[in-house]
Amino acid sequence: MVDPSDLSPEQLTVASLGQAQHKSPLRKSLYPGDGLGDFVADDMRMLYEPRFRQGEPLSQLSFERAGAREKLFFDPGKTKVAIVTCGGLCPGINNVIRSLVLELTFNYGVQNVWGFRYGFQGLNPEQSRLPMALTPKVVEDIHHRGGTILGTSRGHQSPEVMAHCLADQGFDILFCIGGDGTQHGAHSIASEIARRELPISVVGIPKTIDNDIRFCFRTFGYYTAVAEAETVVDRAHVEAKSILNGVGLVKLMGREAGFIAAAAALASGEANFVLVPEVDFPLEGENGFLAKLQHRLATREHAVVVVAEGAGQDWMPSRTKEHDASGNRRLADVGPFLKQKIQESCAAASLPVKVKYFDPSYHIRSVPATAADSLLCERLARNAVHAAMAGKTDMLIGLWHNHFIHVPLAISTGAKKQLSPEGELWQAVLALTGQ
Ligand code: F6P
Repeated sequence: MVDPSDLSPEQLTVASLGQAQHKSPLRKSLYPGDGLGDFVADDMRMLYEPRFRQGEPLSQLSFERAGAREKLFFDPGKTKVAIVTCGGLCPGINNVIRSLVLELTFNYGVQNVWGFRYGFQGLNPEQSRLPMALTPKVVEDIHHRGGTILGTSRGHQSPEVMAHCLADQGFDILFCIGGDGTQHGAHSIASEIARRELPISVVGIPKTIDNDIRFCFRTFGYYTAVAEAETVVDRAHVEAKSILNGVGLVKLMGREAGFIAAAAALASGEANFVLVPEVDFPLEGENGFLAKLQHRLATREHAVVVVAEGAGQDWMPSRTKEHDASGNRRLADVGPFLKQKIQESCAAASLPVKVKYFDPSYHIRSVPATAADSLLCERLARNAVHAAMAGKTDMLIGLWHNHFIHVPLAISTGAKKQLSPEGELWQAVLALTGQ
Protein backbone atom coordinates (compact mmCIF):
# COMPACT_ATOMS: atom_id res chain seq x y z
CA MET A 1 0.00 0.00 0.00
CA VAL A 2 1.26 3.48 -0.85
CA ASP A 3 1.92 5.59 2.24
CA PRO A 4 -1.01 8.08 2.31
CA SER A 5 1.32 10.83 3.50
CA ASP A 6 2.98 10.61 0.07
CA LEU A 7 -0.33 11.45 -1.64
CA SER A 8 -2.25 14.70 -1.97
CA PRO A 9 -5.95 15.17 -2.89
CA GLU A 10 -4.77 16.83 -6.13
CA GLN A 11 -2.88 13.67 -7.14
CA LEU A 12 -6.09 11.67 -6.73
CA THR A 13 -8.12 14.07 -8.86
CA VAL A 14 -9.19 12.58 -12.18
CA ALA A 15 -8.90 14.65 -15.35
CA SER A 16 -12.04 15.43 -17.33
CA LEU A 17 -12.46 16.49 -20.96
CA GLY A 18 -15.11 19.08 -20.10
CA GLN A 19 -18.69 19.52 -19.10
CA ALA A 20 -20.93 16.48 -19.52
CA GLN A 21 -24.07 17.69 -21.29
CA HIS A 22 -25.69 14.66 -22.89
CA LYS A 23 -28.32 12.72 -20.99
CA SER A 24 -27.30 9.12 -20.40
CA PRO A 25 -29.49 6.57 -22.21
CA LEU A 26 -29.10 4.10 -19.31
CA ARG A 27 -32.29 3.30 -17.39
CA LYS A 28 -31.06 4.39 -13.97
CA SER A 29 -31.92 7.13 -11.52
CA LEU A 30 -30.23 9.20 -8.85
CA TYR A 31 -32.67 8.05 -6.18
CA PRO A 32 -32.41 4.82 -4.20
CA GLY A 33 -35.60 2.87 -3.56
CA ASP A 34 -37.32 3.45 -6.92
CA GLY A 35 -36.53 0.02 -8.32
CA LEU A 36 -33.96 1.38 -10.77
CA GLY A 37 -30.20 1.05 -10.53
CA ASP A 38 -28.47 4.25 -9.40
CA PHE A 39 -26.27 6.67 -11.28
CA VAL A 40 -23.17 7.60 -9.34
CA ALA A 41 -23.01 11.30 -8.51
CA ASP A 42 -19.75 12.82 -9.66
CA ASP A 43 -18.79 13.91 -6.16
CA MET A 44 -19.17 10.42 -4.67
CA ARG A 45 -15.87 9.37 -3.09
CA MET A 46 -14.29 6.28 -1.59
CA LEU A 47 -12.03 6.83 1.42
CA TYR A 48 -8.40 5.93 0.89
CA GLU A 49 -8.25 4.54 4.42
CA PRO A 50 -11.65 3.25 5.58
CA ARG A 51 -10.24 1.75 8.79
CA PHE A 52 -10.01 4.06 11.74
CA ARG A 53 -9.46 4.13 15.44
CA GLN A 54 -12.57 5.16 17.40
CA GLY A 55 -12.46 8.80 18.41
CA GLU A 56 -9.75 9.74 15.93
CA PRO A 57 -10.60 11.97 12.93
CA LEU A 58 -10.95 10.33 9.51
CA SER A 59 -8.42 11.19 6.82
CA GLN A 60 -10.20 12.94 3.95
CA LEU A 61 -7.94 11.44 1.29
CA SER A 62 -10.26 9.72 -1.18
CA PHE A 63 -10.76 8.35 -4.69
CA GLU A 64 -13.52 9.19 -7.18
CA ARG A 65 -16.04 6.35 -7.27
CA ALA A 66 -16.59 4.53 -10.55
CA GLY A 67 -20.04 3.93 -12.03
CA ALA A 68 -22.56 5.22 -14.56
CA ARG A 69 -22.98 9.00 -14.69
CA GLU A 70 -26.28 10.75 -15.38
CA LYS A 71 -24.69 13.12 -17.88
CA LEU A 72 -22.26 12.16 -20.64
CA PHE A 73 -19.53 14.13 -22.36
CA PHE A 74 -19.88 12.15 -25.57
CA ASP A 75 -23.00 11.86 -27.70
CA PRO A 76 -23.26 8.05 -28.08
CA GLY A 77 -24.59 8.19 -31.65
CA LYS A 78 -21.51 10.14 -32.80
CA THR A 79 -18.85 8.41 -30.70
CA LYS A 80 -15.99 6.40 -32.20
CA VAL A 81 -14.18 4.04 -29.85
CA ALA A 82 -10.88 2.15 -30.03
CA ILE A 83 -9.61 -0.74 -27.91
CA VAL A 84 -6.00 -1.91 -27.67
CA THR A 85 -4.49 -4.85 -25.75
CA CYS A 86 -0.78 -4.75 -24.87
CA GLY A 87 1.90 -6.70 -22.99
CA GLY A 88 1.96 -10.35 -21.93
CA LEU A 89 -1.14 -12.50 -22.18
CA CYS A 90 -3.49 -12.74 -19.24
CA PRO A 91 -6.72 -14.72 -18.71
CA GLY A 92 -9.76 -12.51 -19.26
CA ILE A 93 -8.57 -10.11 -21.98
CA ASN A 94 -11.24 -11.34 -24.39
CA ASN A 95 -13.86 -11.06 -21.62
CA VAL A 96 -12.96 -7.38 -21.20
CA ILE A 97 -13.09 -6.72 -24.96
CA ARG A 98 -16.50 -8.41 -25.15
CA SER A 99 -17.98 -6.53 -22.19
CA LEU A 100 -16.68 -3.19 -23.51
CA VAL A 101 -18.31 -3.84 -26.89
CA LEU A 102 -21.60 -5.07 -25.40
CA GLU A 103 -21.90 -2.17 -22.94
CA LEU A 104 -21.04 0.42 -25.60
CA THR A 105 -23.33 -1.05 -28.24
CA PHE A 106 -26.39 -2.36 -26.45
CA ASN A 107 -26.58 -0.01 -23.45
CA TYR A 108 -25.10 3.27 -24.72
CA GLY A 109 -25.97 2.88 -28.40
CA VAL A 110 -22.41 3.42 -29.69
CA GLN A 111 -22.13 1.81 -33.15
CA ASN A 112 -18.52 2.56 -34.03
CA VAL A 113 -16.08 0.34 -32.08
CA TRP A 114 -12.66 -0.73 -33.39
CA GLY A 115 -9.80 -2.88 -32.14
CA PHE A 116 -6.22 -1.85 -32.89
CA ARG A 117 -4.04 -4.87 -33.70
CA TYR A 118 -0.97 -6.13 -31.84
CA GLY A 119 -0.73 -3.59 -29.04
CA PHE A 120 0.53 -0.04 -29.43
CA GLN A 121 2.09 -1.04 -32.78
CA GLY A 122 -1.47 -0.84 -34.11
CA LEU A 123 -1.51 2.89 -33.39
CA ASN A 124 1.57 3.48 -35.49
CA PRO A 125 0.45 3.66 -39.15
CA GLU A 126 3.97 2.70 -40.27
CA GLN A 127 3.78 -0.64 -38.47
CA SER A 128 0.12 -1.36 -38.25
CA ARG A 129 -2.40 -3.74 -39.69
CA LEU A 130 -5.84 -2.26 -40.27
CA PRO A 131 -7.97 -1.96 -37.12
CA MET A 132 -10.66 -4.57 -36.70
CA ALA A 133 -14.37 -3.67 -36.47
CA LEU A 134 -15.81 -4.92 -33.18
CA THR A 135 -19.50 -5.72 -33.14
CA PRO A 136 -21.58 -7.85 -30.75
CA LYS A 137 -21.50 -10.59 -33.40
CA VAL A 138 -17.69 -10.53 -33.63
CA VAL A 139 -17.25 -10.76 -29.84
CA GLU A 140 -20.16 -13.15 -29.27
CA ASP A 141 -18.19 -16.11 -27.92
CA ILE A 142 -14.64 -14.80 -27.46
CA HIS A 143 -14.84 -14.86 -23.65
CA HIS A 144 -14.47 -18.64 -23.69
CA ARG A 145 -11.01 -18.32 -25.21
CA GLY A 146 -7.66 -17.43 -23.68
CA GLY A 147 -5.41 -14.82 -25.30
CA THR A 148 -6.63 -11.73 -27.12
CA ILE A 149 -8.48 -11.61 -30.44
CA LEU A 150 -6.73 -8.31 -31.18
CA GLY A 151 -3.20 -9.63 -30.72
CA THR A 152 -0.68 -7.98 -28.44
CA SER A 153 2.90 -6.76 -28.34
CA ARG A 154 5.35 -5.28 -25.90
CA GLY A 155 7.15 -2.04 -26.44
CA HIS A 156 7.05 1.66 -26.79
CA GLN A 157 5.63 3.71 -29.66
CA SER A 158 5.86 7.47 -30.04
CA PRO A 159 3.01 9.20 -28.11
CA GLU A 160 2.94 11.88 -30.82
CA VAL A 161 2.39 9.27 -33.53
CA MET A 162 -0.29 7.44 -31.51
CA ALA A 163 -2.15 10.65 -30.56
CA HIS A 164 -2.03 11.75 -34.20
CA CYS A 165 -3.35 8.35 -35.34
CA LEU A 166 -6.34 8.61 -32.98
CA ALA A 167 -7.13 12.19 -33.96
CA ASP A 168 -6.59 11.55 -37.66
CA GLN A 169 -9.03 8.62 -37.67
CA GLY A 170 -11.62 10.54 -35.63
CA PHE A 171 -11.52 8.44 -32.46
CA ASP A 172 -13.13 9.87 -29.30
CA ILE A 173 -12.18 7.17 -26.79
CA LEU A 174 -9.25 4.76 -26.38
CA PHE A 175 -9.41 1.83 -23.94
CA CYS A 176 -5.98 0.45 -23.04
CA ILE A 177 -6.03 -3.07 -21.61
CA GLY A 178 -2.67 -3.84 -20.06
CA GLY A 179 -0.23 -3.86 -17.17
CA ASP A 180 2.02 -1.17 -15.80
CA GLY A 181 3.99 -0.66 -19.04
CA THR A 182 0.75 -0.30 -21.01
CA GLN A 183 -0.75 2.14 -18.54
CA HIS A 184 2.48 4.14 -18.65
CA GLY A 185 2.07 4.26 -22.45
CA ALA A 186 -1.60 5.21 -22.05
CA HIS A 187 -0.56 8.09 -19.78
CA SER A 188 1.91 9.37 -22.37
CA ILE A 189 -0.81 9.25 -25.08
CA ALA A 190 -3.24 11.11 -22.76
CA SER A 191 -0.56 13.73 -22.00
CA GLU A 192 0.08 14.28 -25.70
CA ILE A 193 -3.67 14.53 -26.35
CA ALA A 194 -3.97 17.10 -23.52
CA ARG A 195 -1.03 19.09 -24.97
CA ARG A 196 -2.90 19.22 -28.30
CA GLU A 197 -6.15 20.09 -26.45
CA LEU A 198 -8.03 17.28 -28.17
CA PRO A 199 -11.32 15.91 -26.74
CA ILE A 200 -10.19 12.26 -26.66
CA SER A 201 -10.61 10.12 -23.56
CA VAL A 202 -7.98 7.51 -22.56
CA VAL A 203 -9.08 4.94 -19.99
CA GLY A 204 -6.98 2.02 -18.75
CA ILE A 205 -8.12 -1.40 -17.59
CA PRO A 206 -5.61 -3.15 -15.28
CA LYS A 207 -4.50 -6.51 -16.67
CA THR A 208 -1.78 -8.72 -15.23
CA ILE A 209 -1.45 -12.14 -13.66
CA ASP A 210 1.28 -10.62 -11.45
CA ASN A 211 -1.33 -8.50 -9.58
CA ASP A 212 1.21 -5.69 -9.28
CA ILE A 213 -0.73 -2.56 -10.33
CA ARG A 214 -1.01 0.15 -7.72
CA PHE A 215 -4.43 1.12 -6.34
CA CYS A 216 -5.90 -2.10 -7.61
CA PHE A 217 -6.42 -4.74 -4.92
CA ARG A 218 -6.83 -7.38 -7.62
CA THR A 219 -6.05 -7.22 -11.32
CA PHE A 220 -7.96 -9.46 -13.69
CA GLY A 221 -6.18 -12.70 -14.60
CA TYR A 222 -4.53 -13.10 -11.22
CA TYR A 223 -7.02 -15.55 -9.69
CA THR A 224 -7.08 -17.70 -12.84
CA ALA A 225 -3.28 -17.88 -12.89
CA VAL A 226 -3.32 -18.79 -9.19
CA ALA A 227 -5.85 -21.56 -9.82
CA GLU A 228 -3.64 -23.02 -12.57
CA ALA A 229 -0.52 -22.65 -10.43
CA GLU A 230 -2.22 -24.33 -7.47
CA THR A 231 -2.66 -27.55 -9.46
CA VAL A 232 1.08 -27.55 -10.22
CA VAL A 233 1.95 -27.17 -6.52
CA ASP A 234 -0.41 -30.06 -5.76
CA ARG A 235 1.29 -32.25 -8.41
CA ALA A 236 4.72 -31.29 -7.07
CA HIS A 237 3.59 -32.48 -3.65
CA VAL A 238 2.46 -35.83 -5.08
CA GLU A 239 5.85 -36.31 -6.76
CA ALA A 240 7.80 -35.26 -3.68
CA LYS A 241 5.87 -37.45 -1.28
CA SER A 242 6.13 -40.58 -3.40
CA ILE A 243 9.89 -40.95 -3.00
CA LEU A 244 12.34 -40.80 -0.11
CA ASN A 245 13.60 -37.24 0.34
CA GLY A 246 11.71 -35.97 -2.66
CA VAL A 247 11.69 -32.22 -3.29
CA GLY A 248 8.97 -30.74 -5.49
CA LEU A 249 10.38 -27.46 -6.75
CA VAL A 250 7.92 -25.13 -8.54
CA LYS A 251 8.91 -21.90 -10.26
CA LEU A 252 6.02 -19.50 -10.92
CA MET A 253 5.76 -16.22 -12.81
CA GLY A 254 6.02 -13.03 -10.82
CA ARG A 255 8.79 -10.71 -11.85
CA GLU A 256 8.84 -8.10 -9.12
CA ALA A 257 6.01 -9.46 -6.98
CA GLY A 258 5.36 -12.77 -5.28
CA PHE A 259 1.56 -12.62 -5.29
CA ILE A 260 1.12 -15.69 -7.54
CA ALA A 261 3.63 -17.80 -5.60
CA ALA A 262 2.16 -16.81 -2.22
CA ALA A 263 -1.47 -17.35 -3.23
CA ALA A 264 -0.84 -20.64 -5.11
CA ALA A 265 1.08 -21.98 -2.12
CA LEU A 266 -1.75 -21.01 0.22
CA ALA A 267 -4.49 -22.34 -2.03
CA SER A 268 -2.68 -25.65 -2.33
CA GLY A 269 -1.76 -25.83 1.35
CA GLU A 270 1.13 -28.17 0.44
CA ALA A 271 4.09 -25.77 0.24
CA ASN A 272 6.80 -25.86 2.90
CA PHE A 273 8.90 -22.98 1.55
CA VAL A 274 7.78 -19.97 -0.47
CA LEU A 275 10.46 -17.67 -1.89
CA VAL A 276 9.41 -14.25 -3.19
CA PRO A 277 11.26 -11.13 -4.40
CA GLU A 278 9.89 -8.92 -1.62
CA VAL A 279 11.40 -10.93 1.25
CA ASP A 280 15.18 -11.34 1.36
CA PHE A 281 16.52 -14.53 2.84
CA PRO A 282 19.95 -16.16 3.05
CA LEU A 283 20.63 -19.17 0.84
CA GLU A 284 23.62 -20.59 2.68
CA GLY A 285 24.58 -20.76 6.36
CA GLU A 286 22.93 -22.10 9.48
CA ASN A 287 19.75 -20.04 8.96
CA GLY A 288 19.82 -20.23 5.21
CA PHE A 289 17.19 -21.85 3.00
CA LEU A 290 19.39 -24.85 2.11
CA ALA A 291 20.02 -25.77 5.77
CA LYS A 292 16.32 -25.46 6.58
CA LEU A 293 15.39 -27.62 3.63
CA GLN A 294 17.82 -30.30 4.77
CA HIS A 295 16.27 -30.19 8.24
CA ARG A 296 12.82 -30.60 6.74
CA LEU A 297 13.98 -33.62 4.69
CA ALA A 298 15.66 -35.18 7.73
CA THR A 299 12.44 -34.88 9.74
CA ARG A 300 9.63 -35.24 7.15
CA GLU A 301 11.36 -36.96 4.20
CA HIS A 302 9.83 -34.69 1.55
CA ALA A 303 9.38 -30.98 0.84
CA VAL A 304 7.60 -28.63 -1.56
CA VAL A 305 9.32 -25.37 -2.52
CA VAL A 306 7.53 -22.61 -4.45
CA VAL A 307 9.73 -19.89 -5.90
CA ALA A 308 8.63 -16.73 -7.70
CA GLU A 309 10.77 -16.06 -10.77
CA GLY A 310 11.96 -12.71 -9.36
CA ALA A 311 13.17 -14.21 -6.07
CA GLY A 312 16.83 -14.79 -5.21
CA GLN A 313 18.19 -12.63 -8.03
CA ASP A 314 21.11 -11.51 -5.84
CA TRP A 315 22.35 -15.08 -5.49
CA MET A 316 23.02 -15.60 -9.16
CA PRO A 317 26.18 -14.60 -10.98
CA SER A 318 24.34 -14.25 -14.29
CA ARG A 319 22.25 -11.33 -13.02
CA THR A 320 21.75 -9.00 -15.94
CA LYS A 321 21.03 -5.30 -16.27
CA GLU A 322 19.06 -5.76 -19.50
CA HIS A 323 15.39 -4.85 -19.90
CA ASP A 324 12.69 -6.16 -22.21
CA ALA A 325 10.61 -4.04 -24.62
CA SER A 326 8.15 -3.19 -21.81
CA GLY A 327 11.00 -1.90 -19.63
CA ASN A 328 10.97 -4.95 -17.33
CA ARG A 329 14.31 -6.14 -15.95
CA ARG A 330 15.44 -9.41 -17.55
CA LEU A 331 15.84 -12.00 -14.84
CA ALA A 332 18.36 -14.76 -14.23
CA ASP A 333 16.63 -18.16 -14.05
CA VAL A 334 16.22 -18.99 -10.36
CA GLY A 335 14.59 -22.41 -10.92
CA PRO A 336 17.47 -24.48 -12.36
CA PHE A 337 19.89 -22.54 -10.12
CA LEU A 338 17.98 -23.56 -7.02
CA LYS A 339 17.66 -27.16 -8.20
CA GLN A 340 21.44 -27.39 -8.60
CA LYS A 341 22.10 -25.75 -5.22
CA ILE A 342 19.72 -28.16 -3.46
CA GLN A 343 21.40 -31.16 -5.10
CA GLU A 344 24.93 -29.93 -4.32
CA SER A 345 24.22 -29.01 -0.70
CA CYS A 346 22.45 -32.32 -0.01
CA ALA A 347 25.32 -34.24 -1.63
CA ALA A 348 27.80 -32.34 0.59
CA ALA A 349 25.73 -33.34 3.63
CA SER A 350 25.51 -36.97 2.38
CA LEU A 351 21.72 -36.63 2.26
CA PRO A 352 20.23 -38.42 -0.76
CA VAL A 353 17.71 -36.18 -2.51
CA LYS A 354 15.62 -36.22 -5.69
CA VAL A 355 14.44 -32.86 -7.01
CA LYS A 356 11.39 -32.86 -9.28
CA TYR A 357 11.38 -29.49 -11.01
CA PHE A 358 8.16 -27.91 -12.35
CA ASP A 359 8.12 -24.79 -14.53
CA PRO A 360 4.55 -24.22 -15.78
CA SER A 361 5.73 -20.97 -17.38
CA TYR A 362 3.16 -19.46 -19.81
CA HIS A 363 0.66 -22.24 -19.14
CA ILE A 364 -0.82 -20.34 -16.19
CA ARG A 365 -1.64 -17.23 -18.23
CA SER A 366 -2.77 -18.53 -21.61
CA VAL A 367 -5.92 -20.24 -20.31
CA PRO A 368 -9.48 -18.81 -20.35
CA ALA A 369 -10.61 -16.87 -17.28
CA THR A 370 -12.21 -18.67 -14.35
CA ALA A 371 -15.56 -17.44 -12.97
CA ALA A 372 -13.95 -15.10 -10.41
CA ASP A 373 -11.95 -13.35 -13.13
CA SER A 374 -14.84 -13.34 -15.62
CA LEU A 375 -16.89 -11.44 -13.04
CA LEU A 376 -14.09 -8.95 -12.43
CA CYS A 377 -13.52 -8.41 -16.18
CA GLU A 378 -17.21 -7.77 -16.71
CA ARG A 379 -17.35 -5.12 -13.99
CA LEU A 380 -14.04 -3.45 -14.87
CA ALA A 381 -15.08 -3.15 -18.51
CA ARG A 382 -18.54 -1.70 -17.87
CA ASN A 383 -17.11 0.81 -15.38
CA ALA A 384 -14.47 1.79 -17.93
CA VAL A 385 -17.23 2.54 -20.45
CA HIS A 386 -19.15 4.65 -17.88
CA ALA A 387 -15.99 6.66 -17.11
CA ALA A 388 -15.01 7.26 -20.73
CA MET A 389 -18.54 8.22 -21.86
CA ALA A 390 -18.67 10.75 -19.01
CA GLY A 391 -15.46 12.32 -20.36
CA LYS A 392 -13.03 11.07 -17.72
CA THR A 393 -9.53 10.65 -19.07
CA ASP A 394 -5.91 9.76 -18.24
CA MET A 395 -7.18 7.27 -15.64
CA LEU A 396 -7.66 3.58 -14.97
CA ILE A 397 -10.37 1.64 -13.20
CA GLY A 398 -9.01 0.56 -9.83
CA LEU A 399 -10.39 -1.72 -7.14
CA TRP A 400 -10.20 -0.46 -3.59
CA HIS A 401 -11.67 -2.33 -0.61
CA ASN A 402 -14.04 -4.04 -3.06
CA HIS A 403 -15.23 -0.78 -4.66
CA PHE A 404 -14.41 0.30 -8.20
CA ILE A 405 -12.65 3.65 -8.34
CA HIS A 406 -11.08 6.07 -10.83
CA VAL A 407 -7.29 6.35 -10.48
CA PRO A 408 -5.24 8.97 -12.34
CA LEU A 409 -2.66 7.18 -14.51
CA ALA A 410 0.02 9.57 -13.28
CA ILE A 411 -0.03 7.96 -9.84
CA SER A 412 -0.86 4.37 -10.70
CA THR A 413 2.01 3.84 -13.14
CA GLY A 414 5.79 3.93 -12.91
CA ALA A 415 5.98 1.95 -9.65
CA LYS A 416 4.55 -1.48 -9.00
CA LYS A 417 2.54 -2.87 -6.14
CA GLN A 418 4.38 -5.48 -4.09
CA LEU A 419 3.48 -8.03 -1.48
CA SER A 420 3.87 -6.51 1.98
CA PRO A 421 5.93 -8.70 4.34
CA GLU A 422 3.68 -7.47 7.18
CA GLY A 423 0.47 -7.92 5.21
CA GLU A 424 -2.17 -10.60 5.58
CA LEU A 425 -1.17 -12.66 2.54
CA TRP A 426 2.48 -13.08 3.48
CA GLN A 427 1.63 -13.61 7.14
CA ALA A 428 -0.73 -16.42 6.08
CA VAL A 429 2.12 -17.98 4.08
CA LEU A 430 4.34 -17.87 7.17
CA ALA A 431 1.56 -19.40 9.27
CA LEU A 432 1.19 -22.24 6.74
CA THR A 433 4.85 -23.02 6.14
CA GLY A 434 6.40 -22.02 9.44
CA GLN A 435 9.43 -21.06 7.33
O1 F6P B 1 2.66 -10.42 -17.41
C1 F6P B 1 3.72 -10.48 -16.52
C2 F6P B 1 4.45 -11.76 -16.70
O2 F6P B 1 3.51 -12.76 -16.58
C3 F6P B 1 5.61 -11.99 -15.74
O3 F6P B 1 5.29 -12.62 -14.56
C4 F6P B 1 6.56 -12.75 -16.61
O4 F6P B 1 7.88 -12.60 -16.21
C5 F6P B 1 6.35 -12.15 -17.93
O5 F6P B 1 5.00 -11.81 -17.99
C6 F6P B 1 6.82 -12.98 -19.08
O6 F6P B 1 6.22 -12.54 -20.27
P1 F6P B 1 6.94 -12.43 -21.68
O7 F6P B 1 7.85 -13.60 -21.83
O8 F6P B 1 5.81 -12.41 -22.64
O9 F6P B 1 7.71 -11.16 -21.66
